[in-house]
Amino acid sequence: SDELKELVREAKKCAKNGRVANYIPALGKANPTDLSIAIHYPDGNCVQAGDIEKKFTLQSISKVISLALVLMDRGSNYVFERVGMEPTGDPFNSIAKLETMVPAKPLNPMINAGALVVTHMIKGITVEERFQRLLLFIQDMVRDSNISYCKEVALSEFETANLNRALVYFLKQHNIIQEDVEHLIDLYTKQCAIEMNCFDLSKIGMVFAMDGVDPESGKRIMPVDVARICKTFMVTCGMYNASGEFAIKVGIPSKSGVSGGIMGSVPGRFGIGIFGPALDEKGNSIAGIKLLELLSQNYQLSMF
Ligand code: DON
Repeated sequence: SDELKELVREAKKCAKNGRVANYIPALGKANPTDLSIAIHYPDGNCVQAGDIEKKFTLQSISKVISLALVLMDRGSNYVFERVGMEPTGDPFNSIAKLETMVPAKPLNPMINAGALVVTHMIKGITVEERFQRLLLFIQDMVRDSNISYCKEVALSEFETANLNRALVYFLKQHNIIQEDVEHLIDLYTKQCAIEMNCFDLSKIGMVFAMDGVDPESGKRIMPVDVARICKTFMVTCGMYNASGEFAIKVGIPSKSGVSGGIMGSVPGRFGIGIFGPALDEKGNSIAGIKLLELLSQNYQLSMF
């Protein structure tokens, strides 16, 4: 719509104040001024604006989805014995709090330490089998069996993920993780490299918004409780150590990734997919956050 185009034009202005992530070398190739959005309604309507054909990797957005799968695989008691429910106030890849926790359980599933424990809990014998189960779950939500992962980004992260390896070694020493470190990093980097456009992402956001049902097919993808837990983490930890400010300024359960993606779920109303690769200093899409602020203000979307 024209209104949405105007908001994209306005939000795009602040992309110049951000930077594309380059600690995963392959992500450094993104165009910092790209910005796209899709809003998906339960009746199948979708409004889009900006560079909508661009694909991006989910990165940390995948953490919400793997959490949903693992909650279904293992049940919430098992999961929350191994990963906590509290925000950290630390950067997403911080190792600092782990040593202060006894037992050494990561504070929440949205920081890397917690997400690695979640990915560890995905059921299946081989990395390939576990990855396929996660991919199938995502394909089901998007209703597109062509969704796959970007080999280049996965490999680029696998080759450089030494901080994540350090987190896994620490957690393995404390018996929170049992599997081979390289296998888990392989699975985690493939998970983070799952690729789609903002239209696809808005569909996933819609499934969470609609309490785990895909309204277009009527299919229940996950139990109500699982969708509720995931949306709550999106509010408390979805934007890392910017989650508090984001809750005040936007008030939409959202999850960001360092590729510049943001998935939003306006409870009971619609799903949002955004891509804008220029990031602020906390690793969130700078123009993406601006766009959500404008949307939330103009259409009173805050849930609070
Ligand atoms: O583990 C990593 O560093 C990345 N694969 C994902 C981190 C991420 O997306 C944090 N986002 N803001």
